[in-house]
Amino acid sequence: MAATGSGKLMIVGCGPGSPDYLTEAGRRAIRGARVLVGSPRLLASHATLAHEQVPVGADIDAVLDAVAARREQGGIAILVTGDPGLASLAGPVLRRFGRDSCEVIPGVSSVQLAFARLGLDWSEARIVSAHKGIPELAPADLAAFGRIAILPGHPRSRQWIGDLAEAFGKERFLVVCEELSLPGERIRTVSAAEFRSLELSSRTVVLLLKEKIL
Ligand SMILES: C[S@@+](CC[C@H](N)C(=O)[O-])C[C@H]1O[C@@H](n2cnc3c(N)ncnc32)[C@H](O)[C@@H]1O
Repeated sequence: MAATGSGKLMIVGCGPGSPDYLTEAGRRAIRGARVLVGSPRLLASHATLAHEQVPVGADIDAVLDAVAARREQGGIAILVTGDPGLASLAGPVLRRFGRDSCEVIPGVSSVQLAFARLGLDWSEARIVSAHKGIPELAPADLAAFGRIAILPGHPRSRQWIGDLAEAFGKERFLVVCEELSLPGERIRTVSAAEFRSLELSSRTVVLLLKEKIL
């Protein structure tokens, strides 16, 4: 495994929130880093006084420039929620700096944990991100999938998910998984109409399932 001092940018999947779901490899990379780059929430959870902190905001190019400016000295860990392979900052970092300059440490994804909580196999699930934008997908594009996991986040995602659930009607059960792994964790099945009026946590995975589990 590359050490953080090797100059590689470490992209660390930090899991869904609870320290119980941060891997030992992730913990080691964070401990060995000089600079931590991440959302204010991730920095608050993982940074110590020994770390320089680079908060990630809306301007991703500015964050990448900040990484580039510190790169020569090495010891940079870029923290992402869940797994880096799912709708994370890892994409822009890998595109800008190249695969050979980075090491990706996987993490437990929120989607993985949502399926685990329900005891469901997700090998044939369709994962859809409605985090940064609304996916250009019609109900017909998703009809073949018995298990769909959606990451909301975009301001119009609730409306989009409500419309999707309504289009599927009684064929699907809508399971809302909030604050997974955290003290406020809540998992419930709701109707499309109920879903539209929910105040969702910013940490929510929505499952659309053909079978009734809860
Ligand atoms: C930018 S995406 C990153 C996904 C992340 N890479 C992963 O593997 O979970 C952020 C989204 O992940 C989901 N999420 C992250 N943490 C969560 C948690 N503890 N409980 C439920 N959903 C969570 C939410 O849908 C949130 O909008």
